[in-house]
Amino acid sequence: MTALRPHAEQQYADELAELSATDDRPRPPGWRLSPQAVVTYLLGDGAKITPKYVGPRRLMEIAVATLATDRALLLLGVPGTAKTWVSEHLAAAISGDSTLLVQGTAGTAEEAIRYGWNYARLLAEGPSPAALVPSPVMRAMETGTIARVEELTRVPSDVQDTLITILSEKTLPVPELTSEVQAQRGFNIIATANDRDRGVNELSSALRRRFNTVVLPVPASAEEEVDIVTRRVAQLGRSLDLPEVPAAVEEIRRVVTIFRELRTGLTEDGRTKLKSPTGTLSTAEAISVLTNGMALAAHFGDGVLRPADVAAGIVGAVIKDPVSDAVVWREYLETVVREREEWRAFYRAARDA
Ligand SMILES: Nc1ncnc2c1ncn2[C@@H]1O[C@H](COP(=O)(O)OP(=O)(O)OP(=O)(O)O)[C@@H](O)[C@H]1O
Ligand SMILES: [Mg+2]
Repeated sequence: MTALRPHAEQQYADELAELSATDDRPRPPGWRLSPQAVVTYLLGDGAKITPKYVGPRRLMEIAVATLATDRALLLLGVPGTAKTWVSEHLAAAISGDSTLLVQGTAGTAEEAIRYGWNYARLLAEGPSPAALVPSPVMRAMETGTIARVEELTRVPSDVQDTLITILSEKTLPVPELTSEVQAQRGFNIIATANDRDRGVNELSSALRRRFNTVVLPVPASAEEEVDIVTRRVAQLGRSLDLPEVPAAVEEIRRVVTIFRELRTGLTEDGRTKLKSPTGTLSTAEAISVLTNGMALAAHFGDGVLRPADVAAGIVGAVIKDPVSDAVVWREYLETVVREREEWRAFYRAARDA
């Protein structure tokens, strides 16, 4: 049996071992690697270490440096800017374990952040350490590792506030057992939050003060975005064992161009203003449109990524609201796509989709 999606520390075990063997800089207490080596792991070294994050080095340095202090890290950004991806790789590189994860939702309860009880045992034996069910955060404190909290701003604010004691006192009291769990060195928290959710449960100022915020930007240029998409599509194709489809630079470039133009509301040449659809059209969505296209081409096409393999995916990503987005898309199709000589085949495919 093989896992459908291995954790980062499993998938990149070789790279992590290689870095650890050659890393001669000081490592903060509880860390598997030095801060320098963690940044190299994230950005790659042009040789054996592959880039995971593509973007400003400085942001990763700030993120990693934060985790070596007593402040926690908040990764903020619009959807699809690699917040979850970066947090997983940071935990893998620093702690060798990216699995201590709390998924934040409106229904996240205090037990998910502190601890719960095995009720059968609790009733039979009363409160005892054996009846206690530690949360991922509690386990990270005990083992001196990184815990991840996804979508922190979706968590109700009274539940968010349970993190305040943990982050400021580095301890988690267990009154039922008149004991506490003291965080071991190496413990810290990485939270992610979506820009668009802000205001839903704005972080309390007390909590915000315990975090350093790093805002992950959308890719700065079309070239950078094409680079990210090309890499990730190739990686995903390999891990899904898709039959080899030659990476179709032209199709990738087109998807990225369409998404960027609609996102920014302006054509690449800066000449035509466009209406933007309601969806986000993130890099992540471009990656998934292309991965689906590759699967279509491999299984039902001639093994080459054709415009028709991506057209339906693009239309599906753009039209989230069947009324207003459909109007935006039709206008884009007729005024921009149609006019581009080299996009003829795509125009026809998109019109039929
Ligand atoms: N700058 C980037 N470098 C590398 N990969 C990126 C980058 N931007 C996006 N990706 C890719 O996009 C995909 C989605 O990223 P991820 O799920 O981490 O986004 P997110 O910011 O957590 O989004 P959401 O707000 O929807 O949770 C991942 O496969 C990731 O590799
Ligand atoms: Mg995410």
